[in-house]
Amino acid sequence: MGKEKLMRFKAIKDFNNVTEFQFKAENNIPIWKDYFGNDHPLIVELGCGKGEYSVGLAKRYAEKNFIGADLKGNRIFIGARDAILNSLNNVHFLRTRIDFITDSFTPNSVDEIWLTFSDPQPKKPNKRLSSRVFLERYAQFLKPNGKIHMKTDSDLLFEYTLEQINKYGYNMHYVLWDVYGNIEQLPQTLQDEMSIKTHYEKLFSSRGSTIKYCQFSLPDNLK
Ligand SMILES: C[S@@+](CC[C@H](N)C(=O)[O-])C[C@H]1O[C@@H](n2cnc3c(N)ncnc32)[C@H](O)[C@@H]1O
Repeated sequence: MGKEKLMRFKAIKDFNNVTEFQFKAENNIPIWKDYFGNDHPLIVELGCGKGEYSVGLAKRYAEKNFIGADLKGNRIFIGARDAILNSLNNVHFLRTRIDFITDSFTPNSVDEIWLTFSDPQPKKPNKRLSSRVFLERYAQFLKPNGKIHMKTDSDLLFEYTLEQINKYGYNMHYVLWDVYGNIEQLPQTLQDEMSIKTHYEKLFSSRGSTIKYCQFSLPDNLK
């Protein structure tokens, strides 16, 4: 591991806005309203990387709480440091595999999920963060009608997600194959939220990819 990466891994251990999930049977599920000291809506970004959405939304909405989750500690470091430098008390980072995400949230505790530029996993559909197996996990802690947002450059992942939504009868709220070409189709709040650009969005946009967005919610019978 490079020096810089090692420094970041060590640093997040001392950040009080990062929790590293311990893979032990005796883990208790965190009660996030106790951690934040309020009962504000909780929004989770899965596969957050450097956490641009978690931090960007936390800056916009002081009355909501945000958690960015990712396995990669050296990426989380960037978002956690940004949150500290901006004195943001409403954002936290969780270093975990999303495969174990149900160990980090109690039932009915999460209002919204953001999937930002998730890996398309061309050869492993079940590892896609919008696959049935992952959505069943999210259903365990999402509130009824909780929204799932997906922003992606990937045609493969977007088509797959829309197929899953049709196949399983999830409730679709928005589908934009070219979000910036059709931004007026979104309400003002979402238009503003779309102006947050993650590391991977900037990378893929610079290569000419069209950015896609959809929003949906899960039926009760998934629980
Ligand atoms: C393509 S990057 C996108 C990062 C960031 N959202 C962005 O847009 O810049 C995908 C991220 O998802 C994380 N990831 C993918 N599958 C994961 C899993 N099963 N558990 C935890 N993190 C995962 C990777 O570590 C990576 O940081």
